[in-house]
Amino acid sequence: MNEPRIVVIPTPEKWAQKAADLIIEQAQAAIEARGTWSFVLSGGGTPKPVYQALAERKGEIDWQNTFIFFGDERCVPPDHPESNYRMAKEAFLDAVPIEQQNIFRMIAEIGPKEAAEDYQGMIEAHFFKAEKRFDTLLLGLGNDGHTASLFPGEPALKEDTAWVVPSHNPHNQTERLTLTFPAINSARNILFLVTGESKAPVIADVIQNPSGFPNYPAKQVIVTESAPTWLLDQAAASELNS
Ligand code: 6PG
Repeated sequence: MNEPRIVVIPTPEKWAQKAADLIIEQAQAAIEARGTWSFVLSGGGTPKPVYQALAERKGEIDWQNTFIFFGDERCVPPDHPESNYRMAKEAFLDAVPIEQQNIFRMIAEIGPKEAAEDYQGMIEAHFFKAEKRFDTLLLGLGNDGHTASLFPGEPALKEDTAWVVPSHNPHNQTERLTLTFPAINSARNILFLVTGESKAPVIADVIQNPSGFPNYPAKQVIVTESAPTWLLDQAAASELNS
């Protein structure tokens, strides 16, 4: 297994710009190579400044050949404050010249089971004539080692066939939808976007103790072809061995 690539950026502004640099590079390379770019967004709060940087630099991406997917979603309406779709829409999707039909929203408000079946169908249809692999897949990390909505102890962690399944957040018992490890681990490029001191212990354990206890869900992100890139600020990287 390839070693993860670790990039530590000192300031929040430079961190967001470096993330945008990497994403734009991958977008241009994917479109050059295959004519399209599939970009999977992560949720929560961390990626918002990265999405805003992409909006500022919208001229550097060919949005006509860009296809947006989501790594996970809360089972709430798309205009709900907790919606990952709403956060991305406000941070950059409304500001870039992308067709609505190129944005594949998880319609999680209809309920996790139906929404998972619906999203699986959207993914299959999109990749119908192509290799079923996302080009760029963003991931966040929770203090409990979860990523996307793959939380410790959840049955979703064991899914080895479907690409989208229901899940739930055990910390507040809310229902979610999430991509699974088969979907994540087949991606061409995985970019973990993590900032903040609270994540430092988990990051150090996931990166430096990848096959040891505790078995944080993020440790199951195992990409053979191209190891994940961890884009961290100094606080998040503060417990890594130098
Ligand atoms: C979500 C995310 C989740 C997130 C982590 C970190 O829907 O919440 O997909 O995996 O990335 O929980 O969240 P923060 O960025 O808010 O710390």
